[in-house]
Amino acid sequence: MSISQQAFLRDAMRRLNLTRDLFAARIGVKRRALDTWLLPEGSQEFRTMPEVVERFVGEIVQNSDLLEKYTQSAQPGPLRDRIAWRGKHQLISVDQFTRESAEDLFRVADMMQPIARRRKVSRVLEGAVLGNLFFEASTRTRVSFGSAFCRLGGSVCDTTGFTFSSMAKGESIYDTSRVMSGYVDALVVRHPEKGSVAEFAAATNIPVVNAGDGPGEHPSQALLDLYTILTEFSRLGKLLDGAHVAMVGDLKYGRTVHSLIKLLSLYKGIKFSLVAPRGLEMPEAVIEQAARNGNVIEQKSSLAEGLSGADVIYATRVQKERFIGEDAESAYTPDFQVSKATINAYCSPDTIVMHPLPRDSREGANDLSTDLNDDSRLAIFRQTDNGIPIRMAIFAVLLGVEDLVQHSMRDVTWRHPSHVGPDDSSFHGLD
Ligand code: NCD
Repeated sequence: MSISQQAFLRDAMRRLNLTRDLFAARIGVKRRALDTWLLPEGSQEFRTMPEVVERFVGEIVQNSDLLEKYTQSAQPGPLRDRIAWRGKHQLISVDQFTRESAEDLFRVADMMQPIARRRKVSRVLEGAVLGNLFFEASTRTRVSFGSAFCRLGGSVCDTTGFTFSSMAKGESIYDTSRVMSGYVDALVVRHPEKGSVAEFAAATNIPVVNAGDGPGEHPSQALLDLYTILTEFSRLGKLLDGAHVAMVGDLKYGRTVHSLIKLLSLYKGIKFSLVAPRGLEMPEAVIEQAARNGNVIEQKSSLAEGLSGADVIYATRVQKERFIGEDAESAYTPDFQVSKATINAYCSPDTIVMHPLPRDSREGANDLSTDLNDDSRLAIFRQTDNGIPIRMAIFAVLLGVEDLVQHSMRDVTWRHPSHVGPDDSSFHGLD
C-alpha cells in the first residue's frame, strides 16, 4: 500500500460518512480490531489489517455503486417498522430483513450482552407478559425466548404440546391466537405445520414470533446463527462476503438451514456447499432464492468434496419426525458425520463448526461428533449463548423499547461464574 494504513482507513470512513463503530459494523469487524489498525505504524498496539479487509475496503471506495450502498444514509423510521410483517410488528420469516436491518438488530443484541452475561439487569419490559406456545418439542428455543423476556423484566406463561392445549379439543388457530392476545403482550409460537405461525400472526395485532413452523422457517435461529458467524469472523479477522459456508445433513426438512441460507445470501460472493444424503437435499425454491448477490451454490455428495476449505461448517440433525416415506435408517450414514477426523482432514485451524442443536448423541446417529467438544473450532455453545441477546433484541425491537435499554441497566446483585460451562475455553468470549 503506498499510503499508510491509517490514512487509507480514515479516508474510507470519511468517504463512507461512517463513524468508527458503524464502519467496523459495516465491514464486519470488531471495533477493537479496527482501533488497532488505525494506530500509527510505530505504536506498540498497532496491527496490520488482514489483506482481505484491505481488498474489500479498497473495492468499496473505488466502485461508486458499492460506495453508495455502504455509505451512511438516514434509515427511514424505527427498526420495527422496517422489518414489519404485513404491516404488523411480528417476526415470521427472514425475508423481512435486509442486510442493513439485520445488522441494526445485531447492534441492539450487542447492547444486550452485559445483561445476557449477567453483569447488568434491566426492567424495561416490567409488567409485560409473554405467551410461549410450543406445539412441538423444544428445550433451548422455548427456554431462551422465556429467559430473554424475563431478563428484560417481563414474565412468561408457557404451554407445551397439543395434549394439554385446547387445540386437542379442535380449537382453530384463529380462536387460540385471538384468545391468547387478550392475556399476553407478545406470542412466541412453534407449530409442526409450515405456514401455521403466519396464521397465528394474521389473527392478532400483538407481536408474534415464529419459533419454527414445521419444515418452513426458524428466523430467530438464523439471526443468532448469522450473529455468531459475524462475531466469530471478527475474532478471526475474516469477512463474510466471499466466505465459504458448508451446510451438512438434512437440508430438506431442516428449517434452520432454510432460514439461514436465505439470510446469508444477503451478503455477497458466498460459496455455499450443500452436502445432503440422497433424498434430503435443499428444496429448489430455497436454493433459487439464495442464489443472488453473486453467491454460488454447489450441491456435493460427500464431506470430502463439500468441506474442503470451508470457513463455516453448519451441521444439522436428521429430522426423522418429518419423514414422509423416506428411508430414515439409511439416510445418515457415517459418511455424513462431522467429527474431529473430518475437520482435521479437510479444514483449517480457523474453520468454525456450528449446529442448531439438539445433536443426536446416541450411538449410530452419526450426527455432529462429541469428540470435538474440547476443540475451540466448535462454536455450538457460543452459538446457543447468543440466543439470549438476539431474542432480547427481537423483543425490545418488536415492543419498541430498544432505546430505553442502555439507560435502564443496573449492576447485578448476585454472583455468577465467569465461565458457565466446564469446557468453555478462553475463546468463549466471556471475558
Ligand atoms: C432446531 C429446530 O427445532 O428446528 N432446533 C432449534 O430450534 N435450535 C433443529 C432440530 O430440531 O434439529
